[in-house]
Amino acid sequence: KLPSEDVLLQYILKETACEKTMKGKRVLVTAGPTVEAIDPVRYISNRSSGKTGYAIARAARRRGADVTLITGPVSIPAPSDVHVVHVNTALEMLQACEEAFPSADIALFSAAVADMRPAHAADHKLKKGAADADLGTITLVENPDILATIGAKKGPHQVVVGFAAETDNVIANAQAKLVKKNADVIVANRVGEGLAFGTDDNAVCFVDADEIDETPSMPKDKLADVILDHALEYLR
Ligand code: CTP
Repeated sequence: KLPSEDVLLQYILKETACEKTMKGKRVLVTAGPTVEAIDPVRYISNRSSGKTGYAIARAARRRGADVTLITGPVSIPAPSDVHVVHVNTALEMLQACEEAFPSADIALFSAAVADMRPAHAADHKLKKGAADADLGTITLVENPDILATIGAKKGPHQVVVGFAAETDNVIANAQAKLVKKNADVIVANRVGEGLAFGTDDNAVCFVDADEIDETPSMPKDKLADVILDHALEYLR
């Protein structure tokens, strides 16, 4: 079914009326979860919907940026006119980021990277209670921290925006992540039952070396623009 004329008109107005405040800027966005295979039918992942990252990618493109979106599996359509790189695992996401980051002006790491992956992905379906590869004893190893790895390589003219999903001590944890991951700013949000993951609205807190700036709850599309406005302030 085609969208109505009204919907199309609204869309065109939104796309063209927007000020091209990011023209000539190269923006890298990570989004969605990563999935880490246990065996051919099972995996470890998380509840990330990818909505925030996709909204940021769309907003940056609307503002005239050249956008690369590196995304785990989500059910949102790929934004038009954006270079989309589909990945599954944290290791694949890291490799794609290593390739894209050197030419990026601003990188925003909104993906919910799985912290752990099975040490060995079995090539056959594991059986319950089997003696050799018991489903009850999956050995996990830690995934690399993509933001920290890329943050450590940040050049003087590059801006790195990290995210933090917290259930407790939101500010203190975000401040620790800011330093540890060498980000310019951390976009922190409270997660838990009915908060942030999968929802359409979100409130965040910008935490940098000097200040803490809280936003009210707003639709993720609007929040994407607020996040980009903040990111632009760090460009030198
Ligand atoms: N991140 C990443 N690679 C990982 C884990 C996290 O790049 N292996 C990034 C996320 O994309 C986000 C930020 O680091 O920008 C913080 O992620 P979060 O899940 O809040 O924190 P963790 O570092 O995983 O710490 P913890 O689970 O202890 O809160």
